[in-house]
Amino acid sequence: MTQWNQKVTVPGLSARKTEGQPITMLTAYDASFARLLDQAGVDCVLVGDSLGNVIQGQTSTVPVTVDDVAYHVAAVKRGLDRALLVADLPFMSYFDTTTAMVSAARLMRAGAEMVKLEGGQALSETVRGLVANGVPVCGHLGLTPQHVHQLGGYRVQARGQGPAQQLMDDALALVDAGIGLLVLECVPQKLAGRVASALPVPVIGIGAGAQVDGQVLVLYDMLGIGSGRAPKFVRNFMPGSDSVQQALTAYVEAVAERRFPGPEHVYD
Ligand code: KIV
Repeated sequence: MTQWNQKVTVPGLSARKTEGQPITMLTAYDASFARLLDQAGVDCVLVGDSLGNVIQGQTSTVPVTVDDVAYHVAAVKRGLDRALLVADLPFMSYFDTTTAMVSAARLMRAGAEMVKLEGGQALSETVRGLVANGVPVCGHLGLTPQHVHQLGGYRVQARGQGPAQQLMDDALALVDAGIGLLVLECVPQKLAGRVASALPVPVIGIGAGAQVDGQVLVLYDMLGIGSGRAPKFVRNFMPGSDSVQQALTAYVEAVAERRFPGPEHVYD
């Protein structure tokens, strides 16, 4: 059984999947919030390129740079003792394997312990290159916000047999290339459950239902201070909590006890 106070590692996350213990992830962008997340027992802290939206006030993640992410990774690192620090490789920072390695090296030197990138089979060679050089990689499939201009908006992905099969094939290709973790965003809950069952690595959902190995939310969304109208999959944990710390603990407990996400947060 994994101890709550043990440093979270990539192999440790795989053990959590085997043990059937849900994994908690939240985003953070600064040392003070990172410390609160760590104290609440959040397993993985993601310096997401959502910092473009919630910190910079941009309308998408596209303007975010490696320098931006590295700055926030260094700050978050100072607030963490236990959680695994995952950092987003931002838009166009991994368009080929060499560029991905340069970008990942910058984020790892700033304090990241894993990098996340958006996309499927086309990234296999890049993932292999990163993993071969000691960089743990998290994939991100389904709604991939860096592709918003191709997708035509933020909406549920992989509905229908063809797109669902494509997503499954992409997930298997990423696993074959060496990812240690996969984020699945905004996909039908049954498909997410099938992907989680098929994969040997943990699948962390956001708008992907409860039949996966863990959950992630953007911190500002779950504290009710996100920009714009919150998507259906978000729960604001502040009502009923006396403090931010209590809201974070409520999130960790709700995920651990599989009370979040509920039926009202999922897509069919
Ligand atoms: O950038 C981000 O915050 C993310 C999460 C939504 C998973 O990628």
